[in-house]
Parts: sequence; C-alpha cells; structure tokens
Amino acid sequence: MINVAVVGLGSIGNTHARCYRENRYTRIVAVCDILRERADRAAQEYNCPAFYSIKQMLASDIRIDAASMATAGVENGGDHYKPTMELLNAGIPVLGEKPISNKVSEAKKMVALAKRKRLPYAIDLNHRFTPAAVKAKQWLDSGRIGEVNFVNMYMWINNPNESSPHFHMRALHPHSLDVMRYFGGDVARVHAFFKKGKGRKIWSNVHVNLQFKSGVLGHLMGSYDGGGPGTPWGLERCDIIGAKAMVTINDACEKLIFSPRFSLEQEIYDHPGGMKSFGDTFESRIGKWVDDLRKKTKPSAVDGKAEDALKAQLIIEAAIESWEKGTVVDL
Ligand SMILES: NC(=O)c1ccc[n+]([C@@H]2O[C@H](COP(=O)([O-])OP(=O)(O)OC[C@H]3O[C@@H](n4cnc5c(N)ncnc54)[C@H](O)[C@@H]3O)[C@@H](O)[C@H]2O)c1
Repeated sequence: MINVAVVGLGSIGNTHARCYRENRYTRIVAVCDILRERADRAAQEYNCPAFYSIKQMLASDIRIDAASMATAGVENGGDHYKPTMELLNAGIPVLGEKPISNKVSEAKKMVALAKRKRLPYAIDLNHRFTPAAVKAKQWLDSGRIGEVNFVNMYMWINNPNESSPHFHMRALHPHSLDVMRYFGGDVARVHAFFKKGKGRKIWSNVHVNLQFKSGVLGHLMGSYDGGGPGTPWGLERCDIIGAKAMVTINDACEKLIFSPRFSLEQEIYDHPGGMKSFGDTFESRIGKWVDDLRKKTKPSAVDGKAEDALKAQLIIEAAIESWEKGTVVDL
C-alpha cells in the first residue's frame, strides 16, 4: 500500500482524494489545508487526520510515501511553490496541479530540487491520459500516420475569470501545449497573437504558431470566450496530420477518428477504451502516477513529469513575449 497525503482540499484536491480512495494500491493517510474547515471536512470524508500546515503534517509520525499538491493561487499556480518545496525537501514524491507554477523561475527551482533529491515529481497533465491519446500515439510511433506535418489544437472553455492579463494562457494552456508536445515533441520557435473578448479586460483569445524541433508545425487556438459543449468537438480537439493520414481526437477522450489520406474509409472510435468523459481523466492520470510509484519508475521516466510541465510553461511565456514584442521567440 502506498501512503498518500493530499494537500489543498478545494474541488480538485478532493478529486485527487477520491481517485486515491478508489485506487486499490493507495491509502489516504493525511489531508492538509490552511483552511481548517476544508481540512476537517476532508479528514472526515477520507477517514484520516487533518493538518493545517505542511510543517505540522511533516512533524507527525505518519509515514507519507507520496503527496498530491492541489493548491491554486495567482493564475491558479501561485501557491504551489512553497508547499511543494517543503514536501520535496522532506523526500516526498509529489504530483502537483497545473500550471506547475505561474512563475517559470519557481517552476525551475522545484524541478531542480526534485532532480537533486532523485524524487518523482509529476504534474496532473490529465488531458492526454486517455485511451484515445494513447492509441493515436501508437499509430504515430508505428508509422501509420506517416511523416507528421502538423499538430494542431483547439481548446476553449467559457471562463469569466478576469484576475490577470494572461490568466487564460497561464492557467488553461499548460494542458493544450502538453497534448501538442506529446505528439510533436519539444518546441523550437513560438509566435503568438492575442485578442481580448468583447467586454473583457484580459487576453482571453489566442492563436499560437509553433515550430517543433523536429520541423513539425503546430497551431493552437485557445479561448475563454468561444466554443462550448455545443460545438461539434466539445471543449477541445487535437489534429495530427501526416503524410498517410489525419487523426482527430475530440474532447480529450470522447471520439477518435482515423482518416486515411488516400481512402474514404474512416475509422471512428466512440469513447475508445470505454472512457466516458473528461472527468475520468483524473482517475487515469492518477492511476498512472500510482503505477509509476509502485514500479519505482526512474524519476526521469515518470509519465507527465514536472519537467514536461515546465517546458509547457516556457512555451506559454514565449507566446506572451512574442505578442508583447511582435516577434518570433526562440526557445
Ligand atoms: N487538471 C485539471 O484538469 C484541473 C482542472 C481545474 C483546476 N486544476 C488546478 O487544480 C488546482 C486547484 O484548483 P481548485 O479549484 O481546487 O483550487 P481552490 O482554490 O478551490 O483550492 C486550493 C486549496 O489549497 C489550499 N492551500 C493554499 N495554500 C496552501 C498551503 N500552503 N498548504 C495547504 N493548503 C493550501 C487553499 O486553502 C484551498 O483550499 C489549481 O492549480 C488549478 O489550476 C486542474
């Protein structure tokens, strides 16, 4: 049994906790939130002790093998740094939430500390932990799609948050860029245009062009204003376009379409692997994290590792710099 602590018991921390409760290899041994009522409510729900600071939790004699870190803060990532550093310093593997941090300098320090301590450190980049993405990646690796020319992504949700000019880019697009990196690899160059939606104060719409190191081209269309669940592809869509075929993933897990370039016969998979909806991605992502812990996967080989989340964040900052300076930014 892996003894797990959950830190930050908002809606997402509770989602992590429910996944650990359902996972046959994990047992929740502690919950921690600086808001006492949240920690107490979770302690009752998951039948474990409550703590109101990491320091207090680490001072207890409870053995903690791994922790989920689901704090939020400025741009949904401003609070992650301090508690993550405390946990890593105490030798505890961490599964953090995205964005890894809204500040690249802090993200780099967390990644460096985990590396120094040889600890697994991963981020909940759950959008690609789906049977659809895994199957598409298998097709890509086996050559079924042919040489890839484009990895394009749409991601849009209706989010009225106006808390900082680049909230949309920093809080939402770690996900889309991680999916794009999953298929396209590392990114070399970035160019972006931003637009404020009607009546909005923040940059709530974006077009980002990417050139991957492999030469593959990528395009991200992101929005807090457009789209919605009524669109043909729901909240997100990824297209991988190669010399032999185009593959489309709709709504992360709901539909996978293989369209051969020289034939009309499409393969359409509805809910491949039986995954129902986006909500199920937490269970599959956390299941993979637990597998990596059980199998003692080398920290550098952990799926969705923090370094990948840092790379997504570097693309985000490059996109912002590109827009502000009106230039292409090299990574
Ligand atoms: N992966 C996904 O699909 C997905 C979806 C939505 C949100 N998120 C991410 O999940 C994270 C949490 O989101 P949320 O909506 O649950 O946030 P929230 O603000 O509701 O909850 C965060 C909790 O962390 C606690 N906290 C802050 N600092 C702490 C500390 N030092 N020690 C202990 N507890 C502390 C707060 O008191 C709060 O209860 C965010 O980073 C967000 O971006 C991920």
